[in-house]
Amino acid sequence: MGIRFIKLATIYFLIGIGLGIFMEMAHDHALMGVHAHINLVGWVSMALFGLLYHYFPQLANNKLGKAHFWLHNLSLPLFMLGLGFLLYGNESLLLLVIVGSNVLAISVIVFVVNVFKNLKVDTS
Ligand code: HEM
Ligand code: HEM
Repeated sequence: MGIRFIKLATIYFLIGIGLGIFMEMAHDHALMGVHAHINLVGWVSMALFGLLYHYFPQLANNKLGKAHFWLHNLSLPLFMLGLGFLLYGNESLLLLVIVGSNVLAISVIVFVVNVFKNLKVDTS
């Protein structure tokens, strides 16, 4: 699962900097919030999750780890899509922002619980 997280993270990186370049070229920074979160929650955070899940398999091989993976990867794109519309003044997808951001926050809680519960000091 660590590797899957890292591979998906690189896709967010590509989209994130692509959006940054578009924003520069178009002289339109309206989507800065989407750009910032795609880069930080998509690329940086997911790359970190990937490294953690890879180096500490005890985090990956349990229900909390799997729930975290799916909650994060389902909520973030929906959140970003809704936020993109919202930042351009279109509120028709506001529900995606509300549901997406809350599910993302829940996924963070699941991650924290997983770390505290299953990350143990290796004494071997
Ligand atoms: C080719 C690469 C990139 C380009 C062209 C680019 C472009 C931009 C632009 C145009 C803005 C809006 C600035 C403003 O209106 O004040 C911005 C903001 C931001 N970018 Fe990027 N960016 C790039 C890569 C990244 C990466 C890799 C990250 C994070 C890992 C990142 C994180 C951010 C953040 C956090 C903000 C918001 C800053 C604030 O709150 O003032 N960017 N970027
Ligand atoms: C449930 C998750 C999150 C929600 C609902 C959320 C929401 C927000 C909101 C409402 C803003 C203010 C935007 C504005 O004033 O236009 C913001 C800004 C920001 N957030 Fe988050 N955030 C979340 C997670 C994160 C995480 C995990 C990071 C970093 C790893 C992050 C980094 C930033 C940065 C750098 C800014 C300033 C750039 C900007 O104004 O767009 N956020 N966030």
